Amino acid sequence: EKEGYPFFMIKEIYEQPRALRSTIHGLVNDVIIDEAVKLLADADKVFITGAGTSYHASEYFALTTMKLSGKPVIPFIASEYEVYAEVAGSSDILIAVSQSGETMDTMKAVRAFKAKGCRIISLTNIVDSAIARESDIALYTRAGPEIGVAATKTFLTQTLFLSWISILLASETGRLNSNEVAKLLEELRNAPRYVEESVSMSSETVKKLAEKLVPVKSMYYLSRDIGLPVAREGALKIKEIAYIHAEAYPAGESKHGPIALVEPSFPVVFTVPSDRKLEKLLLGNIEEMKARGGFVISVAPQGFNLNERADIVIEVPRTHWILTSLTHTPPLQLLAYYVATMKGLDPDKPRNLAKTVTVE
Ligand code: F6R
Repeated sequence: EKEGYPFFMIKEIYEQPRALRSTIHGLVNDVIIDEAVKLLADADKVFITGAGTSYHASEYFALTTMKLSGKPVIPFIASEYEVYAEVAGSSDILIAVSQSGETMDTMKAVRAFKAKGCRIISLTNIVDSAIARESDIALYTRAGPEIGVAATKTFLTQTLFLSWISILLASETGRLNSNEVAKLLEELRNAPRYVEESVSMSSETVKKLAEKLVPVKSMYYLSRDIGLPVAREGALKIKEIAYIHAEAYPAGESKHGPIALVEPSFPVVFTVPSDRKLEKLLLGNIEEMKARGGFVISVAPQGFNLNERADIVIEVPRTHWILTSLTHTPPLQLLAYYVATMKGLDPDKPRNLAKTVTVE
């Protein structure tokens, strides 16, 4: 039921705080999490995989874990599993991330890693899904059913869940002390409120911006570090729902080729995490785009200086950087949604796509 919303996608975007609350409730009460963290801490190599949005959540986990715990994590796109399975062994772990728990590419990766003797931890949104059944430890986001084809609330619940694990892992590896762990977990518990704030702070600006993007054919989404998977997610949403060609890549790569496309009014969205060092680096990249006449849109925490350099500023709450996916993704989802509906498209039924992809 759409509960008065015109489309499932917008209902599910607005439902995100509720989905996060129930995921947090599950996390706090699930003893199996500790078992998963121990397995990860003891593992030789940790791999994480998924397709589409679930891959973006996987990349997010790899970054948070490396930043917090110092443990290397290898993220890969599920359909590319063969090369990675080749180097996996029996003291390694694969984390398989899938909303549906049915995606064939992800399932194939799970089976290939199992054949090498790896243990499998899955994170799905559907209890007893095929991938959950094939894994040694089955973890669940509790986003509730997601009807819209585009993943929205499941991405936020996946990244919250995985960030929680990163923090516990950093405690296990001794990189964070118990005070730091408690502080970070508390920040994650505040996620539902930050998401509400993000939506209420950004939605009017996003609607106005969407009108400008209706005629656009192509755009870039740039970021660095923890902001990069979020930029990738923004680009995927606008491609699949609003049919605008969008490319996401690390901002530092601009000068190695992509900047050739930037001409006056070419839109470039910058995802700026709550991190002063990244702000400074991204400011340099924003200047490069401005110098070529690019139309710069920044999604950045309140009070960041680079907002003055952008043509359009989408402000989001200022938090610890670990919450970047939670604060910065909602405006990017809304942007794709509004451009799509302004073009008269049905965001719940994008062409050529199915909710669950059970073919290779
Ligand atoms: C993007 C989207 C797809 C899925 C991908 C994986 O909005 O919906 O890219 O994320 O097909 O699906 P799951 O997570 O069910 O394995």
